[in-house]
Amino acid sequence: MDYTFTIQKTTAPKPKPDPNTLKFGATFTDHMFIMDHAAGKGWHDGRIIPYGPIALDPAAAVFHYGQEIFEGMKAYRTADRRVQLFRPYMNAQRVVASCERMCMPELPPDLYVAAVKALVDIERDWIPEKAGTSLYIRPFLFADDAFLGVRAADHYKFVIICSPVGPYYDTPGGSLIPTSIFVEEGYVRAALGGVGFAKVGGNYAASLKAQQMAYERGCEQVLWLDAIEHSYVEEIGTSNAFFMIGDEVITSPLIGTILPGVTRDSVIALLKKWNIKISERRLRIGDVIKAAEEGSLKEVFASGTAAVISPVGRLMFNDKTLTVGDGSVGALAERLYNTLYGLQTGELEDEMDWIVEV
Ligand SMILES: Cc1ncc(COP(=O)(O)O)c(C=O)c1O
Repeated sequence: MDYTFTIQKTTAPKPKPDPNTLKFGATFTDHMFIMDHAAGKGWHDGRIIPYGPIALDPAAAVFHYGQEIFEGMKAYRTADRRVQLFRPYMNAQRVVASCERMCMPELPPDLYVAAVKALVDIERDWIPEKAGTSLYIRPFLFADDAFLGVRAADHYKFVIICSPVGPYYDTPGGSLIPTSIFVEEGYVRAALGGVGFAKVGGNYAASLKAQQMAYERGCEQVLWLDAIEHSYVEEIGTSNAFFMIGDEVITSPLIGTILPGVTRDSVIALLKKWNIKISERRLRIGDVIKAAEEGSLKEVFASGTAAVISPVGRLMFNDKTLTVGDGSVGALAERLYNTLYGLQTGELEDEMDWIVEV
């Protein structure tokens, strides 16, 4: 289906930020996409308008009962100045799953991708060209009924904003650096039957406490364990987690508590293509500790849109610290990073059919 949106261009374009000092999520482009939904009327009035505040009734449901979901993806510039999205239909499908869980109206995947493409097209000049930079895209949907009562709302908004972002690793040449991860044995992120698989704002609000404590201990992120036994490894901060023990790479299965990452799915596909053993199975933190002590824990890395691949050098516990491999960036993490980033930026040929051009 073809979607058309009205476009109102800004009369006051902002100066573009210096690509050398870009921070993550701190600068926003000139325009935003916005569309409304009403029960009985469906999605309507999709429009691109100048970026600015959204007026909401103080009784809007999102402020009180948190009926909200969001997405995160990036647009990349290729060396010959084309603009590429990476697997946007996977994000669109995740919106469908998140909305279903939160009793929000379904947003058709074609509409989602058409809206992202329309906004990115208008903001092409905002996509930085320096190596490691990109345009971060933040679509979100929320309930805006002015009604105080715990029930699914009748009115929603779908909004997209964009932010030019710098390289995740602020190192010379943007090279990967090993991170330190705190293994969280008290607080949990998601329980079976909950909303861990949905990209729901509340999941992130609930994670802040443990993340703050991890920072205080000098760690970049938290490794979440399952909510029942506090034993099985699940996710690392806002990314999926992979453990290489001997010749097997292990990642948590999609049992409802972890977010089905687009990067996770891509890592699994590449490992299969490279004939590297990849298992989606539950893994106890005790087995990770044992492998580290026996010398068979070769690599741990996280996967996600923001950093693509993030190698882990140390796992910290309340009472001990484990070094992963020799503590440096693992060869597999580096190969995955180079391949995924190469595909995203058009340096590598898109053999997997993952790229959508804008
Ligand atoms: C909790 C969580 N897990 C995993 C991911 C990685 O998902 P993706 O690869 O789609 O960015 C994210 C980021 O969106 C996340 O917030």
